Amino acid sequence: MSEGSWIRRMFDEGAILKQRHGADRVFDLSLGNPVMEPPAEFHQELRKLAENPLPGMHRYMPNAGYPETRAAVAEHLSLETGTKFDTSDIVMTCGAAGALNVVLKTILNPEDEVIVFAPYFVEYLNYVDNHGGVSRVVPTDEEFLPRLDVLEASIKAKTRAVIINSPNNPTGVVYSKEVLSQLGEVLRKKEAQYGTEIFLISDEPYRKIIYDGLEYPSPLHHHQRTIVLTSHSKDLALAGERIGYIAVHPEYSQRGEMIDGFIYCNRTLGYVNAPALMQNIVRYLQGATVSVAEYQRKRDFLYTNLVEMGYSLIKPQGAFYMFPRTPLEDDVAFVRELQQWLVLAVPGSGFGAPGHFRISYCLEDRTLECALDGLRKVSAKFKLNRTSA
Ligand SMILES: Cc1ncc(COP(=O)(O)O)c(C=O)c1O
Repeated sequence: MSEGSWIRRMFDEGAILKQRHGADRVFDLSLGNPVMEPPAEFHQELRKLAENPLPGMHRYMPNAGYPETRAAVAEHLSLETGTKFDTSDIVMTCGAAGALNVVLKTILNPEDEVIVFAPYFVEYLNYVDNHGGVSRVVPTDEEFLPRLDVLEASIKAKTRAVIINSPNNPTGVVYSKEVLSQLGEVLRKKEAQYGTEIFLISDEPYRKIIYDGLEYPSPLHHHQRTIVLTSHSKDLALAGERIGYIAVHPEYSQRGEMIDGFIYCNRTLGYVNAPALMQNIVRYLQGATVSVAEYQRKRDFLYTNLVEMGYSLIKPQGAFYMFPRTPLEDDVAFVRELQQWLVLAVPGSGFGAPGHFRISYCLEDRTLECALDGLRKVSAKFKLNRTSA
């Protein structure tokens, strides 16, 4: 606990600042908790259910979820990816976090290794640890893409899985088809070398939040031992409702046994099943999203301003985070500088990538606008060169 999460620690420090200065004078860019409301379709479905309750809709159900919901997910995922999924390939879960824990519990033997690319979503390390695994953190290149030679050298006989997250938290980077294809090649080469199976766990809660007309490149086309997991926390702004799913590659030869493992672990880890009410709603919302154009507008606003101030950063292609370099080597000290101007951000060290800071833009425009002043003051203090985006 004392090692704790940076994100949480910043949140606690932010809470103190908010008490002292008033919440509307502190500009909190530290958390990925979207301020957007779910799309109108969500409220329509919710109302329909409240007015015409389904018999038994609050009872226990099969641990994999309602067959109708699994079928709707399979149908839409097939459309999105061009890979044909069946109802039996899908398990409904308590968000992406629940899905990750179910997958890791199912596939890991004690001491098995899981490769995680830095910068990473910090909970990966905790989840791997939860199930007796060992995380092996592998750095990425200047563009936050996997270094394939380092990946190859890091895969050992004990490597059971590689976790990828595209669009990425914290960088906003999207892995291209080429990157995924090369990644798949490395995995197959190492599987052949060790006579093992290496699963590609694709954590995709931001899959539908993608900009500039980009199409989501799916890893499913590049490795048969791919396990996709996602949630509606971000694309439908339902983070508090804990609804997501796992999909196993339909061409994976032992998917039946694997799915049985997921169903068993969903129960025995104590999730039992994904929330019934949400399953009855998201069944009809597989094609719906919050306004991605709104997020793109917020990205453009923040990116243009940061570049103009002289910050160095990769333009995010998806999700709702940015991960600029800190002008100071010590990213914690830099974040403390921002705090002096009542702007809250998270040091890159918390994501295994010191020398950076993460800011979220799933926030009200006012918060983003008001945070600019502090960001500008700190950029001036460290004499960043102003440019135009
Ligand atoms: C990369 C990543 N994976 C997983 C999760 C967990 O998502 P969920 O709320 O669906 O459990 C998050 C949440 O922020 C995330 O950023």
